[in-house]
Amino acid sequence: MASSTSFVLFFYLFLIAGCTARPLYPRPSKESEKHRQPLQTFRPYNIAHRGSNGELPEETSPAYMRAIEEGADFIETDILASKDGVLICFHDVTLDDTTDVAKHKEFADRKRTYEVQGVNVTGFFTVDFTLKELKSLRVNQRYKFRDQQYNGKFQIITFEEYISIALDAPRVVGIYPEIKNPVLINQRVKWPDNKRFEDKFVETLQKYGYKGSYLTKDWLKQPAFIQSFAPTSLIYVSNLTDLPKIFLIDDITVPTQDTNQSFWEITSEEYLNYIKKYVVGIGPWKDTVVPVAGNYLQTPTDLVARAHAHNLQVHPYTYRNENQFLHFNFHQDPYAEYDYWINTIGVDGVFTDFTGSFHNFQEWTSLDDKNAAKLLHEIAKLVSPYTKL
Ligand SMILES: *[C@@H]1O[C@H](CO)[C@@H](O)[C@H](O)[C@H]1NC(C)=O
Ligand SMILES: *[C@@H]1O[C@H](CO)[C@@H](O)[C@H](O)[C@H]1NC(C)=O
Ligand SMILES: *[C@@H]1O[C@H](CO)[C@@H](O)[C@H](O)[C@H]1NC(C)=O
Repeated sequence: MASSTSFVLFFYLFLIAGCTARPLYPRPSKESEKHRQPLQTFRPYNIAHRGSNGELPEETSPAYMRAIEEGADFIETDILASKDGVLICFHDVTLDDTTDVAKHKEFADRKRTYEVQGVNVTGFFTVDFTLKELKSLRVNQRYKFRDQQYNGKFQIITFEEYISIALDAPRVVGIYPEIKNPVLINQRVKWPDNKRFEDKFVETLQKYGYKGSYLTKDWLKQPAFIQSFAPTSLIYVSNLTDLPKIFLIDDITVPTQDTNQSFWEITSEEYLNYIKKYVVGIGPWKDTVVPVAGNYLQTPTDLVARAHAHNLQVHPYTYRNENQFLHFNFHQDPYAEYDYWINTIGVDGVFTDFTGSFHNFQEWTSLDDKNAAKLLHEIAKLVSPYTKL
């Protein structure tokens, strides 16, 4: 009896510790590479969009650590620059929507209007703040219907800090950085020796040992996909690194930010044939793959079939659990949405705000009978102490 009670107590402590403690990530140098579980490559990639931003403020260190705990294959980020040329992880060109910049009286005079992709945008731009100033801000959750309790707690992180989170993970976790708004950044930020934003981006990856084309030994050791909406940047960086690249495709109404090409032009047979010399895949907005009307899915386009015929992977964005984002076909069940995209449409990776949900979907649907029996046995072992009480 006593031993059962103490076992149960220990079991509860274990559960509590498991739920609340952040794992201590040993530095990779302290852990043999051989013992790190490799990247899985047998099923579609779980790409943690801005970290686990469904739970924690986007692109912060805790959001990325949470995504790693939840089973991300890749942690995804957007790279922008500070005024003093430091590369940072941040999605919007302005700080207004996801930081507390409005509360900082000392920055009240920093508001500017710049033309971004043909539209005049007014706000506090990252490119007008030094890294030190950016670090004095705190990040907020983007959506009001998500957990607000972490607002004001976490800092913006640099590209290098983000890389360290991936490299320090207890298993091999890939990175998936975007060259974000390169036209604006190259206009507003100047680096010594006439270096461009794209040069600094690739230099940072090389500094930390990221190299090698898709699925090579070097790549599998430190996997990375480089993504961009700007064809000019992708072609430019393919001269600097053979790391695999993904060409992002926006909604059908949005022309490319650098080459001003239409959706129809960049998804034509001729263009896919051209861009495949530089990229291993495309990252389309999911409504361009399966159009939506009245919140119901319509007939899928042939974009996935055509991309696959060109040997291009397809990693659509963005999958989100909440009712606000789920189409009625999925009867408010994110698992049904994943089932459709993985098993009916047949994509090769998904950008998700809820890495844990997609991971659970993949774990439960890839159990074979032997694994299922083993799992039931493990559960029975955990439950048996209670039956003796
Ligand atoms: C943006 O504002 C500037 C200054 O008012 C103006 O000259 C320019 O035409 C505007 N651009 C767009 C795209 O509206
Ligand atoms: C790539 O490098 C070659 C050789 O240095 C150069 O001729 C070419 O213009 C470069 N291409 C791009 C897109 O920068
Ligand atoms: C982009 O292309 C559209 C349609 O061809 C054209 O109307 C527009 O002026 C172009 N914009 C720029 C900045 O070249």
